Amino acid sequence: MYRNLSIEEAPLIKTKLPGPESLKLIKEQEKYETNSRTYTDIFKLAVKEARGSTIEDMDGNIFIDWFAGISVLNLGHNNPLVRKAVEEQLDKIIHINELPTEARTNFMKTLNSTLPNGLKDKSKTMFTVTGADACEAAISLARHVSGKKTIVAFGGSYHGVAGDIVGATSNHHYRDYAGISPTNIYHLPFPYPYRFPINIPDEDMGKAVVDQLEYLIKDPAAGPGSIGGVLVEPIQGEGGYIVPPDDFLPMLREVTEKYSVPLIFDEVQTGVGRTGKIWASEHYNVSPDIMCVSKSIGGGIPTSMIVYRDDYDKDLPKGFHLGTYRANPLALAAGNAILNYLKTSDILERVTLKGEYIKKRLNEISTESDYIGDIRGKGFMIGAELVKDKKTREPGTDMANNVKSYLFNHGLLMLTCGHYGNVMRYIAPLTIEDRLIDVGLSIFEKAIKNL
Ligand SMILES: Cc1ncc(COP(=O)(O)O)c(C=O)c1O
Repeated sequence: MYRNLSIEEAPLIKTKLPGPESLKLIKEQEKYETNSRTYTDIFKLAVKEARGSTIEDMDGNIFIDWFAGISVLNLGHNNPLVRKAVEEQLDKIIHINELPTEARTNFMKTLNSTLPNGLKDKSKTMFTVTGADACEAAISLARHVSGKKTIVAFGGSYHGVAGDIVGATSNHHYRDYAGISPTNIYHLPFPYPYRFPINIPDEDMGKAVVDQLEYLIKDPAAGPGSIGGVLVEPIQGEGGYIVPPDDFLPMLREVTEKYSVPLIFDEVQTGVGRTGKIWASEHYNVSPDIMCVSKSIGGGIPTSMIVYRDDYDKDLPKGFHLGTYRANPLALAAGNAILNYLKTSDILERVTLKGEYIKKRLNEISTESDYIGDIRGKGFMIGAELVKDKKTREPGTDMANNVKSYLFNHGLLMLTCGHYGNVMRYIAPLTIEDRLIDVGLSIFEKAIKNL
């Protein structure tokens, strides 16, 4: 399944970039579409087709895809398994609002079978459409069941840009343009071992953050008001592929349970096999009260959902959170096939082993370089943080941009993330062929040497 899905010749760069045919489409896009795009500034190409972990542009240049639509395409582009499921569903029904279909109930049964113990057979699903929509529904639900308004989120978090949820996304850049002023959100620092704001040992970081949360919850004069939910990415995505200390999520669970504060895991980026488990929470053996799911669950077709404790469902009003496009049958047919594949194949073990191999190779590259300060991650969610100086840890944002464009010019698509945009992130399809991992790593090594 993860052999020979990609275009064989990759990487292949045969024109100056962008090539003439790509340039034509780029110009047309520029004429009609908003200028507030970002990816088009990073990857100057127009796409002809994409297969597996490769993308071919209009001029026949073929790129290795190490970003997978930011984890939207965990089984790669045009995966035969996903195609088959969608094609079969196409013959039945493309869209229907809320009414039961086999696509819907089969999906929910399969999803249920994958859930963390605290939710399996004890939860309900509410469909939404995007990742932000799911997170928005999650904080509304937490506020509703707790009867309290303030949500605690974390520095570096990204939960989308929409409605009230933009307030939980920590980068103020997004909030500066929000139509409404998001309210009642309080950010605590995420336990980020490489850049924690207080100088304490790594092993004390999780406890320091959770102690601070407990203080916010129990002290009426602590500042943020009564806490109605805690929203956290089990491993931070946009914030820089940050793996918290092992005890952080279990302690977060303990303290939220103690005070009956709903705990929400945003698995939008970490879920659906990305970290070598179906859900990242499995690494820590912790169940949330509410879980947000999106991206790869639709295999490229927009869909999302929250899964939550079924006792939260008791007094939920009709039409609590709405959307015409919820639970698209094509997306759910894809999701059902993808989850079944993750459950029954050996792909997750492969992601774990290959992920360790990639980190080992990156660490070797790092020992030869003055500019890679930290390598971290789980499964196929791996970050390499670039710094100007390993001692001062001054972020190497320009360096990361240089590396990104070197990689692009040599046929490898890789994105950055992090508080300072200085973390190179490996987020290739889980199905990527061994050869494309090794070729990509040697291009990456050259890019770092080139700094
Ligand atoms: C962890 C996380 N939550 C929420 C979102 C928002 O998802 P969407 O872009 O579909 O609104 C993202 C998007 O990258 C994400 O990474």
